[in-house]
Amino acid sequence: KKEIEALQIDSAKALEEYRIKFLGTKGLVKSLMGEMKNVANEQKKAFGQSMNEFKQFAEAKYEEWKALAGDGASDTAAKIDLSLPGDALPIGSRHPISLMRNRIVNIFQRLGFAVAEGPEIDDDFHNFTALNLPENHPARDMQDTFYISTDPAWLLRTHTSNVQIHEMQKGKLPIRIITPGRVYRNETISARSHCFFHQVEGLYVDEKVSFADLKQTLYFFVQEMFGKDVKVRFRPSYFPFTEPSAEMDISCLLCNGAGCNVCKKTGWLEILGCGMVHPKVLENCGIDSNKYSGFAFGMGIERPALLKYGIKDIRLFSENDVRFLKQFTGAV
Ligand code: PHE
Repeated sequence: KKEIEALQIDSAKALEEYRIKFLGTKGLVKSLMGEMKNVANEQKKAFGQSMNEFKQFAEAKYEEWKALAGDGASDTAAKIDLSLPGDALPIGSRHPISLMRNRIVNIFQRLGFAVAEGPEIDDDFHNFTALNLPENHPARDMQDTFYISTDPAWLLRTHTSNVQIHEMQKGKLPIRIITPGRVYRNETISARSHCFFHQVEGLYVDEKVSFADLKQTLYFFVQEMFGKDVKVRFRPSYFPFTEPSAEMDISCLLCNGAGCNVCKKTGWLEILGCGMVHPKVLENCGIDSNKYSGFAFGMGIERPALLKYGIKDIRLFSENDVRFLKQFTGAV
């Protein structure tokens, strides 16, 4: 009895071991009962009584422990304290490229632009030919293209302008879209350039769209994006799909135009290309260029993200280093 009292039964295994040792067919209770035949007749009664008592004690203990352990389910249920506060779930963070894209997209959405997306793998027509870059056009060299096949030519899009072509081909006018997405160019990977990056391009086609509309739209964008004090300038440029074409600079955010390393002492940062959609591009998509005109623009997402977040190496964006990514926790 003392031995049983001293036992610590704290698992189903220990309980089963106890049952086998004391109550099993070869257990202590059975073997003590077996001793009856060796007991003198006059003592048989007393022996039997104390044996019975011991047996009941051992059995009662077994039932007691068994009830305590319960079955598996009620065991767990009993241990759950519903009043305890829950563990905080780890929260991920938005990627800085997504943050920047969302900011850009939100500004244009407020002006009535809708988001349009298109394929990253496309044919030559949508990436080049329809954009007034016929075969052998020297400007194709401006964009180091990854070709998937040559005849027919399929490629990784070098800009999101292919989405503009897809949208114009649908034939529903007016069109007012922005096209965020990933693009690919065969460039040497370094701190400043990568073989893929992200763009947001914009397209507005309607009757009587003018260069003044383009300037005002982009001016609004810059003020919303970088603040009211930032200055803007347009420089004449060349793109086969726009005429006239321009590049837009903003005054350097870091030195305020005074000249620093980031703006290469010029005081200006180039942020996008733009222009009036070339009439040939409209015609290539079945749009009457005598009736309709349009403007288009295109900007990278990486460059402004580097500026905004003070990041020095573009490769960090695609390395998935959690130490880098978790610094954006909570940013929206
Ligand atoms: N598609 C051009 C590029 O990727 C950007 C651009 C778009 C320029 C629209 C002018 C008008 O470089």
